[in-house]
Amino acid sequence: MNVISVKNLTKQYEFYRKHAGLWGTLTALVYRKKQYAQAVQGISFDIKEGEIVGFLGPNGAGKTTTLKMLSGILYPTSGEVRVLGCIPQERANEFKKQFGIVMGQKDQLEKMLPAMDSFLLLKEFYGVSDADFARITEELVELLGIRDFLDIPVRRLSLGQRMKCELVAALLHSPKVLFLDEPTIGLDVVAQKNIRDFIKKYNRQKKTTILLTSHNMDDIKELCERVIIINFGKIIYDGQLSTLISMYAKEKIITVTTDEIMPTEVFENFGTVEEYQGVKASIRVPRAQVKEVAAALIASPLPIDDIVIDEMPIDDIIRAIFEAKQE
Ligand SMILES: Nc1ncnc2c1ncn2[C@@H]1O[C@H](COP(=O)(O)OP(=O)(O)O)[C@@H](O)[C@H]1O
Ligand SMILES: [Mg+2]
Repeated sequence: MNVISVKNLTKQYEFYRKHAGLWGTLTALVYRKKQYAQAVQGISFDIKEGEIVGFLGPNGAGKTTTLKMLSGILYPTSGEVRVLGCIPQERANEFKKQFGIVMGQKDQLEKMLPAMDSFLLLKEFYGVSDADFARITEELVELLGIRDFLDIPVRRLSLGQRMKCELVAALLHSPKVLFLDEPTIGLDVVAQKNIRDFIKKYNRQKKTTILLTSHNMDDIKELCERVIIINFGKIIYDGQLSTLISMYAKEKIITVTTDEIMPTEVFENFGTVEEYQGVKASIRVPRAQVKEVAAALIASPLPIDDIVIDEMPIDDIIRAIFEAKQE
C-alpha cells in the first residue's frame, strides 16, 4: 500500500526583492518587482508502508519545501499529494493525528519549559489518553535514554538531548508517517549515532513510514535502502542506494592521520589528494582498490596514527549523477 503518493508536485514561491540602501527602500514604496523561485518543479514518487526513504539533494534543492507540502504546512502551486489517503493542505484534524515532523534547524519545543511540560501540552492537542501517554513516553524515554533530562528547561539541554526530546514530541501520538528534516544536523558523531539507532529501532518496531533528509552519508547508509535525489527542484534519481553507490560513487575517501607533519607529495603515490592539513590527508581512491591502498599505507614507512575510509560526500555523488545526465 502506498502511504505517500506525489504526482507532478510543484511549488513556486513569490516574493519581492528590495534593492539595498535608501534608494532601494524609497523605490520599493512605489515599485516592487515580483520575483519567483521555482523551488519544486513537477516531482512524482510513491512510498510504501514501513519504508525509510532518504530524500537527498544539495542546499536549496527543494527538500524542505517538499516536506512542508507533504505535511500540509505549505500549499502546493500545482500537482497532487496524498498522505494516508488525506490531502495534507486541507489540514483535517484526522490528518494531523497521523503524521509527525522534526526539523533539525527549527526547534518546536518551548525553550523555557522542561520537555515534559511540552509533552503534556501535545498530549492535550492530539487527544492522547492518559494510559497511552504514560505507555508511549515511557517507551520513548527508555529507548532514547533521556529520563534524567525531562524536568530541565529545554534551553539548558545539549543539542543532542534536545533533538531526542523533539523526537519524543513528534512521536507522542504514534503517527503512521514521520518526516525528518536533517535530524542529525549540528550533532557530534556520538549523538548522530544515537539518533540514527533510535530511528532504525523505532521503524522496525512500529513500521512507521519515514521520509528523511540528511547531508550525512552515514545516516543514509545506516537507515535507507531507497533514496530519492532532488536537484534544482527535479528528481534525478529514485532507486536503491546500493545501485546509486555502485553507479556513481566510484571512489572512496581514505583519510590518513600521521604523528608528524608530512609533505603532501608522499600521499600522492596512493591516490588523488583531496584535502591536506600537514598531519591529515584525504585521498580519493577507486572503490576496487581501497583495501589494497589502505594496506599499502599501513605497510609504508609513514608514521601513521589512524586510517578512516568513507563514502564520497553526498554532494559529490549528486554532482556525478548530474554530470552523467548532461552527457
Ligand atoms: N519562503 C521562501 N521564499 C522564497 N524562496 C524560498 C523560500 N523558501 C525557500 N525558497 C527557495 O526555494 C528553493 C528550495 O528551498 P528549500 O526547499 O529550503 O531547499 P532545501 O531544503 O533542499 O535546502 C531555494 O532556492 C530557496 O532559496
Ligand atoms: Mg532544507
